[in-house]
Amino acid sequence: MTIRVKRLGYALGAEITGVDLAKPISDATIAEIRAAWLEHQVLVFPNADITAEQHIAFSCRFSELEVGLTKHYRESANPGIVRVTNRVVDGKPSISRNVGRTWHSDSAFALVPPMGSLLHCKELPEVGGDTLFANMYMAYERLSPGLRKLIAPLEVVNDRLAAPELHWIPPEQAARERIEWPPTVQPVVRVHPETGRKAIYCNETVTVKIHGMTPEESEGVLKYLYSHCVRPEFVYRHRWQLHDLVMWDNRCTMHLAPVDYDMSHVRDMSRTTLRGTPTGRVYDSSKEYLE
Ligand code: SIN
Repeated sequence: MTIRVKRLGYALGAEITGVDLAKPISDATIAEIRAAWLEHQVLVFPNADITAEQHIAFSCRFSELEVGLTKHYRESANPGIVRVTNRVVDGKPSISRNVGRTWHSDSAFALVPPMGSLLHCKELPEVGGDTLFANMYMAYERLSPGLRKLIAPLEVVNDRLAAPELHWIPPEQAARERIEWPPTVQPVVRVHPETGRKAIYCNETVTVKIHGMTPEESEGVLKYLYSHCVRPEFVYRHRWQLHDLVMWDNRCTMHLAPVDYDMSHVRDMSRTTLRGTPTGRVYDSSKEYLE
């Protein structure tokens, strides 16, 4: 089978047709999809009317599933699936209703952050509910040589508990999560393990500072990088259709799910998460620059 690939955005994103995700898929077709993914970073499979099992089976052709990092958001009988929904779950507001409201790459606080994620649209509001993606290779390549040189050796401190959607969690839960996911040190410029290309890898959701800088220095550099990374020309905005499956590469993109819809309308998505490769180390605050 030869898939059809249609570019969706100048910066990133392509639509894939000519493959039925509900049927067995050959290794050759998976290799074509993977090549398209590495080239376009975000793939959209329209009309993927698939079950949770088919969603998982397709995801597992690219990597093992990541289940540990996402367990708090699961709200699904299936451990491989995370629901991202504002639907009331068991009579309570869903814990995932505000996931992704600031730019991020999934779980960038982890020692082994996920390679990618596959989000399947189950129900949509009347209008809106879009997801925006930004190309972090392009963001890196469009910096001046001087700034590229400056940020090349830098590292950031990333903290899961800095994420805005976690600010409400009770102190006992925060203390447990702090032990399970201590802050980590991550590269500002990440080399993609498959393409070898460099991408900016810090984000406003979990990055708390540049390691070894004063708060003022760090704030200035990060503020510039955050605004640069999401310049409109680096962004593709996905307007969902029911049953779209969107697969993104966390190693070279960021994404954002804005509240661009009436929250009394249901937006219901299911996500699988692909296990990645190690990038970070545990943060040791005694090595911090304190002046
Ligand atoms: C996410 O950040 O994984 C969710 C994105 C979305 O809901 O569009």
